[in-house]
Amino acid sequence: MRLSLRIPLLLAAATLLTACPLLAQKMAPVAQTPAMGWNSWNYFAERVDDKGVRAAADQIVSTGMKDAGYVYVNIDDTWEGPRDAQGNITTNAKFPDMKALADYVHSKGLKIGIYSGPGNKTCAGYPASLGHEQQDADTYASWGFDYLKYDLCSFIPDTMQKQAPNDHAEQMRIMIAAYQKMSDALKKATAKTGRPIFFSLCQYGWDSPWEWAPALGGNSWRTTGDIEARWQSIYDILSQQSGLESYAGPGHWNDPDMLEVGNGNLSLAENRTHFSMWAMLAAPLLAGNDLTQMKPEVNAILTNKDVIAIDQDPLGHQARHAYSDGEVEVWTRELKGGAVAIAVINVGSDRYSTHPFHLNLARLGLAATQTGKDLWTGKETTLTQHMPLELPSHDILLVRIPAPVKAILAGKLMPVAATAK
Ligand code: GLA
Repeated sequence: MRLSLRIPLLLAAATLLTACPLLAQKMAPVAQTPAMGWNSWNYFAERVDDKGVRAAADQIVSTGMKDAGYVYVNIDDTWEGPRDAQGNITTNAKFPDMKALADYVHSKGLKIGIYSGPGNKTCAGYPASLGHEQQDADTYASWGFDYLKYDLCSFIPDTMQKQAPNDHAEQMRIMIAAYQKMSDALKKATAKTGRPIFFSLCQYGWDSPWEWAPALGGNSWRTTGDIEARWQSIYDILSQQSGLESYAGPGHWNDPDMLEVGNGNLSLAENRTHFSMWAMLAAPLLAGNDLTQMKPEVNAILTNKDVIAIDQDPLGHQARHAYSDGEVEVWTRELKGGAVAIAVINVGSDRYSTHPFHLNLARLGLAATQTGKDLWTGKETTLTQHMPLELPSHDILLVRIPAPVKAILAGKLMPVAATAK
């Protein structure tokens, strides 16, 4: 196209986008890859405040997390104040000016998230959105929010159990309708502003949300109860993800809960495995630690770009549990361009050398020798059929194989890491 024609056309397109925010929103779909950011709950819980959120935003920039892809700065529960005479939600004394806070976070090139629920009260007992859904969605949009976590909690006794005592099927319909209501309210609110709001469902994985949440506009849905900064909690949650892989994809993701990397007494191996496996699961990577006190080794885990690239792979195929052998688990994930990631985890509490583990590439549909990159040492590595592997307790070997050589069985190429789609 001639330059003289192109400039007026570009100007016309820009004018259209400014005049029609709905169009702009359609052109910027959210959640094409899993959300990345930080959330206040896992470390700060009710101690979150304006100053802490600003500090988290500052740290995301100064620690290299922003460059590594972290975008959302999410305020969880306990920001809420009483409703005013018109029913508008207000903030409590910890958050003197939400709009100014959102502007601050945006000025860092980041996005900001907020929290509510369909009941009368949030999980921590603060006012939630029941009967004020559109009003609240409009308020969040007017403050400039980009993300809403919507947490079921008191809606169960307040509404579901009251309206349909002992009728679980009806209770589930009531719950789905409540999520639909907020989804519609967000769509209406964002049509006015042109700033899309990521919709994160939090109802602990009850009633298979992966089956109904995408259709109502959910961008992610919790698949389990609350995570804790303990290996057993992380491993229990990981074990519950097997079989959910076909439900994740661009725009809609399984959410095994926020990261505990850097929290509690998790060892470095446990932090590495937790982070690696959330990346393999195409999970939201929402750091949950105190970024102002982050140790360099925790920072290095959270900003490992090779591991983040697995999480953010544009195909959006979640890993599957390929097989277990004793206390070793092997998971695989298909990546763009035919690449494959393989994770081998020692989930036992002892060093594995006491019970040698031999990698079975044939069970992954792979030929006897594969070359790839070990994503924690950064070195090239070769995997061979039946090679013995020794891993410290709760540690992981994570390898990306850019051009896997597939096994040939009965003259046919075996599918590698096929998902259940
Ligand atoms: C629930 C959620 C948590 C957190 C708290 C806040 O327990 O699952 O992630 O949001 O509520 O009260």
